[in-house]
Amino acid sequence: MPRLSPGLLRYAHISNPLLRLLLPVCRDVESARNELRWLQDHAQRLAPPSHSSQTWQTRLQVMVRQRATGKPLQYILGTEYFGDLEIVCRPGVLIPRQDTAASVAHLAQILQSSDSLPSRLRVLDLCTGTGCIPLLLDHLLSHSRDPPELQLLGVDVSQKCVDLAEENKARCQARYTEFARADVIAGGSSQAPSLLALLQDRASPQWDVLTSNPPYISSHAFVHTTARSVRKFEPKLALVPPPAGVSEIPADGDLFYPKLLDVADHVQTQVALFEVADLSQALRVASLVRDKGSWEGVEIWRDEPGAKDDSFAHVAQTMGDLRILGRGNGRSVVCWRDQGATWLGRT
Ligand SMILES: C[S@@+](CC[C@H](N)C(=O)[O-])C[C@H]1O[C@@H](n2cnc3c(N)ncnc32)[C@H](O)[C@@H]1O
Repeated sequence: MPRLSPGLLRYAHISNPLLRLLLPVCRDVESARNELRWLQDHAQRLAPPSHSSQTWQTRLQVMVRQRATGKPLQYILGTEYFGDLEIVCRPGVLIPRQDTAASVAHLAQILQSSDSLPSRLRVLDLCTGTGCIPLLLDHLLSHSRDPPELQLLGVDVSQKCVDLAEENKARCQARYTEFARADVIAGGSSQAPSLLALLQDRASPQWDVLTSNPPYISSHAFVHTTARSVRKFEPKLALVPPPAGVSEIPADGDLFYPKLLDVADHVQTQVALFEVADLSQALRVASLVRDKGSWEGVEIWRDEPGAKDDSFAHVAQTMGDLRILGRGNGRSVVCWRDQGATWLGRT
């Protein structure tokens, strides 16, 4: 990372000493000015504790100092946008990412434009975190022209996540989504009930659509390529799968995907969307899907799945007839079977 010049730092200090404090994390004056403005708005909006004489200026200074340590802005402001929804964020729960929202909104758009959706659609989101994925699907699908009867369930192993997801449900006034605590990894070491036990208690065994943005960063990549602020402030539980016992396997970030595919078979899912870290992991996950033999089709979506294909030819050489849609890095693997093919228009 290039060093900031003393001249630039001096200029920021003269403009406003708080701008100088933000500059090293924001890296340029324009971004630092934007963040300072958002933090100031937030400090002015917050009511002071009743017994305190703290002014908004003191609150702003505290926030700027927190931000200067690398603490993500979303944990200080308390929210992040995910599509049209403003989602509450809190330390201990992963901050929702725009790339995830792009895949989820794209899936919703395809499903909305299908004229063959069943009258009742059940969506299971595993590793739900803030609950952002089912809440956005609930919001988008329930506002379609002829919405199906919806039922969505978000599951996370962490009680902190489930509590925050419930809070987000109330904030977004979501009507069709529920949250529950369970461990996706059968026999996992958490105290949470197993996912299969949770699902057994539900009336119907079938979940038509399965979504998941699981922990997918390998322990090596976590140490060597993840941004410092992510390592320092976001929960490792959300990022890196637990050691598999055979953690020498090079792609230990892939641990969740075979489990998710087993769950998808168990609950007779017809469309599944799994987020991945990049194109290499997308190709490995697409291979797992094909090896499973129970899916009719699989494709890869990039960061902007609705944008025009630009490097299809390059990857087509390594993956035969695999379709890779959109622009940017590999972001999700989407697979389908039975009615799912018609819902996605992939017949
Ligand atoms: C990458 S985060 C995704 C959060 C959210 N879906 C999103 O897109 O922002 C992964 C989530 O998986 C949860 N998780 C980790 N291990 C789990 C397990 N064994 N069973 C269920 N959830 C798990 C973490 O608590 C975390 O919330």
